[in-house]
Order: sequence, then structure tokens, then C-alpha cells
Amino acid sequence: MPASPLEQLTQIASLLPPQVGGRVKTITRELEAERSALTAFQSLGMKLSSVRDSFDVITLFQDMLEEAVRLMQADRGALALVEGGSVRVVDSCSKDSHEEVQVSRTLLERVVTTKESIITTNVQEDTGYGASESILALDIRSVLAVPLRARDTVIGVLYVDTQFTQRAFTESDASILSGFAAQAGVAVTLARSIVQEHENYVSLVKIMLSTLESRDEYTAGHSDRVGLYTKKLAEKLGWAAADLERALFAGFVHDIGKIGIRDVYLHKTGKLTEEEFGVIKQHAVIGERLLRENTKGFEGILSAIRSHHERWDGKGYPDGLAGEEIPILARMVGISDAFDAMSTARPYNTAKTWEQTFEVLKKDAGTHFDPALVPLFIEALSDTKVSDAVLEINRSGELDRNVIAQLIAQHDPKENH
Ligand SMILES: [Fe+2]
Repeated sequence: MPASPLEQLTQIASLLPPQVGGRVKTITRELEAERSALTAFQSLGMKLSSVRDSFDVITLFQDMLEEAVRLMQADRGALALVEGGSVRVVDSCSKDSHEEVQVSRTLLERVVTTKESIITTNVQEDTGYGASESILALDIRSVLAVPLRARDTVIGVLYVDTQFTQRAFTESDASILSGFAAQAGVAVTLARSIVQEHENYVSLVKIMLSTLESRDEYTAGHSDRVGLYTKKLAEKLGWAAADLERALFAGFVHDIGKIGIRDVYLHKTGKLTEEEFGVIKQHAVIGERLLRENTKGFEGILSAIRSHHERWDGKGYPDGLAGEEIPILARMVGISDAFDAMSTARPYNTAKTWEQTFEVLKKDAGTHFDPALVPLFIEALSDTKVSDAVLEINRSGELDRNVIAQLIAQHDPKENH
């Protein structure tokens, strides 16, 4: 393969006298940095244009931050937003992981107040930041922080730092990071409008769920536990943050279609006739239709609602799908649903212990349930934190359903002046 123009420049630089060659090499490195920044901008731009719901926005923020840390050759990064007059870190990562990192609030507030970028090569000696405990404790060397804007208003800060390496950020780094900040600004504005709309639909769904719960006392804790179990299984599968939230929400609302089933069928304690069971079965179809026709932003979970009573061997309902024809989220909700129905007391059966229920799942793996998912489900629920969370749900009656809406809180631009 012929050498790229930048590679050719590097080769030419090595033939030149050291003084001139060194300068050409520096310029080449800067050109390389700008070229990879451009590629990153293009890919983020495409992701930005394909954002459909608030789940996608969470992924976009993470990708954006990881890319900024990589391009800046930084150790850590953070995205902070101005909310209710103060700056709050909404996402952060270190170069090796997506774990939460501590960032100096004083420094973030300075960027918001002055509306100017901060580049510092020895942050410990710069007046105003050295006293900050988070900086001293983590031995941070260099910091680059740029404002995030929506039109003329500063709505947040994009921050990177070096912790272990002696890398000084340059003006050219600042201009690349400002490019990221411009995209992040658009993403935040978009996210806020999506979240606003999504919150309205979440409220609508919550009203539907409350209505159902007031008619059917078994649904309340059941929905919350099924949400929790499905999310835990999704974690075992290594799903991304946005998909974990989808899994949780799918569990919450899987039985929402029961709202359309009359009490006489819903509350019958004796054995159901075939006809009565036929009516009950309708809840899967009704639930999917209710959300599809009346809401937006739940497209990723509709098929899970419709297909959560399908069976691996094709003997389930409503469509008789089999094996991997059944969407994976539906297979996951199906296992969580069956597990909870067996391990809690119902009018028609006494509760099995978790161990007894695991045995039933193992026995029915390959007929009723996806045989690959059952062992992972059992592993996920063997974590004591899950049983603690279940005790909490049973005590308080619910898990926090505002989880999605809280991920990106509402922002009022007026508060920023
Ligand atoms: Fe169901």
C-alpha cells in the first residue's frame, strides 16, 4: 500500500536538517491529530443524527466522552451540565474504564462563570485550584476544560485531565475539544427535548400501570421485581447502559395490556376455561398495541411486551414463535416473569423458595425457556444484592420508576444568566 501523505511528510522530515525536520515533524503530528479528530467528529455526527430516544442519548454521551479522552491522550474525562444554577457531572470516565471519577467543582464553576476555556499545565500551583481537595488527592497534572454552549448560554463543561502523565495541553488541543463541546452542546439540547417528551410518555405509562395495580394487587410488586430481574440478567449479558434501562423498563410494563382485560377474568381464582384463558392471553397483544399507538420512545421494548409469553419450543402465545425467533428481551422477561410468578404467593399457588424455582427453570430450559439464558439468570439472581433489592421492593411496594427521566434532568436556560 502506498504511504499516506502524512507518512510521506514524516519520511521527508527525516531527510531534512534537524532544525527544519523537527518543525515539519511537529506540524505532521498536529495534522494527524486533527485528522483523527475529524474522523471522530464524523462518526459522532452520524450517531447524533441517528438518536431516536433518551436511551440512545446515554450511549452517545459515553461514546463522546471516551472519544474525547482518547483523542486528547488524557487520563480522565467528565461531562458536566448546569442544572438549577449549579454544575453537576452527568458522565465521567477514565481512559481504562467507564467508572465514575471525581472532578474539581471550583474549576468547573470557573468555566461556567467566565465562559472561557481553562488550560493549565500545573494545576497544583495555579491559584484557585490547588486548594481543591479532589485535585490534591488525585495528583492531577494538567487540565483542559471547555464550555458547552447552547446558542449564547453556557450549559455545561467538557473536561479532560492527566493524572499520571506529564502531558501539557495545547491551544490546538483546546480547539479540538471545543469541537467536541459544540457537538455535545447539540446532543444535550436534543436530549433535553427528547427527555421532556419521553417524560410525558413515562408519566402516561405510570398512570396506566397505577390503574392496573389498583385493580390487580399482584401486579404492583410483580412488575418491579420482573424489571429488576430482567435488568440483572442484561448485566450478566454485558449489555450497555442504555440497554440495561430498556431491560428494566420492559420488565416494569410487560403486563400493561392487562389493563384491557375485564376484572371477571383477571381475578378468577379457579381453573380458567379455554375461552377465558383465550381472553387473558390477549394482554400481550393489547399491551404492545397500547404503547405503540399512544406513546413514542418505547419502540425498543414493544416486541418484548408482545412476545413475553412465547416459549422456546414454539408452544407459547400470541404468535407461536420458537427459539431465536423470539426477541431476546422477550425471552429474558419471560424467564423473569415465570420466576416471579412461581416464587411469590398467588391465590392459586403457594410460593416456592428461590432454590426450588431455580430447579423448575433448569427442568424447563430448552422447552419453555431459552436454555442459554437460564444458567445466566440463576447466576444473576445468586447475587445477594438482588435479594436485598427484592426485600426493599416488598417493603416499600416499588422500585424507583423515575430512573430514566432522572438520567438527564431538565434544564431551564433562564437559570444560567
Ligand atoms: Fe404476562
